[in-house]
Amino acid sequence: MSVNPTIPTDVDLFDAIEALKRERKAVILAHYYQEPDIQDIADFVGDSLGLSRKAQATDAEVIVFAGVHFMAEVAKIVNPDKTVVLPDLEAGCSLADSAPTDRFAAFKAAHPDHKIISYINCSAEVKALSDIICTSSNAVDVVNLFPPEQKLIFAPDKNLGRYVIEQTGRDMLLWNGACQVHEVFSEKKLMQLRMRHPDAVVVAHPECEPHILRHAEHIGSTTSLLNYVQTSPLKTFIVLTESGILHQMAKAAPGKELIAAPPEGNCACNECPHMRRNTLEKLYLALRDLQPVIEVPEATRLGALKPLARMLAMDLNAG
Ligand code: 13P
Ligand code: SF4
Repeated sequence: MSVNPTIPTDVDLFDAIEALKRERKAVILAHYYQEPDIQDIADFVGDSLGLSRKAQATDAEVIVFAGVHFMAEVAKIVNPDKTVVLPDLEAGCSLADSAPTDRFAAFKAAHPDHKIISYINCSAEVKALSDIICTSSNAVDVVNLFPPEQKLIFAPDKNLGRYVIEQTGRDMLLWNGACQVHEVFSEKKLMQLRMRHPDAVVVAHPECEPHILRHAEHIGSTTSLLNYVQTSPLKTFIVLTESGILHQMAKAAPGKELIAAPPEGNCACNECPHMRRNTLEKLYLALRDLQPVIEVPEATRLGALKPLARMLAMDLNAG
């Protein structure tokens, strides 16, 4: 039964969403960090790169983006003529917020001889100030596109930036941004978990801090972590990323033991408060009312499309 007064109590949200999806010629794209019900009703669940590629390829008239604002913005940037709705317009991202446009523009102006590689977790305005976009799936490949003598800025995630520096040996200037979800994992609790599960493999997202990453046997994007767990012959995994991914891992690798690594404090698992603003009810309302819509001013859209299209044209790690 629905608790939202604008949704009649006899509405079965799953049936209603399916019916509205057909009526609206809509596609539902969801990130792995969405709640399980949303993942289950989505047409495609993926990481940032996979979702960008799906958004680019879809012939649907409406894109319901179950993710955060910068992701829906990417869908709009590559589809200016489609309606893109985000179930909760307030679903932001601490990492994207760590790079305000005015400060970023000043930083760019202070380093005119640098090329700028921006992680997709940033605003359309910051994308428009960048030379190329990357995701956690392809950051190493994107950095390697540039000749060794080219000076580089990597923004806004310093943790992913440090990881890429380690992988490529490139000396990049890092923007001082971070993801609030991946920065709160507790090393002490992780080590206690390892003691209790000596056969467990640790898998981690590169947005985690270096002192956490050094414990990981596998580091990669959410899709990479999912594939690793699915294909590994081993049985037990400690997962260092937002805990929504465990839903897909459990579906893809039934029988394996999946342990969400705990953050500092009392919580047992780590959820992104921005991603979790979306609910099945808000998704239903977004499809029914075709709002809230994502709009990007045309000049910004064209500026952001250039570095984004450069990434999407790369025939690498097709997400
Ligand atoms: P990926 O989707 O690239 O794995 O990144 C995770 C993330 O934090 C998205 O906000
Ligand atoms: Fe942003 Fe981190 Fe949430 Fe991803 S998990 S949307 S990077 S705050």
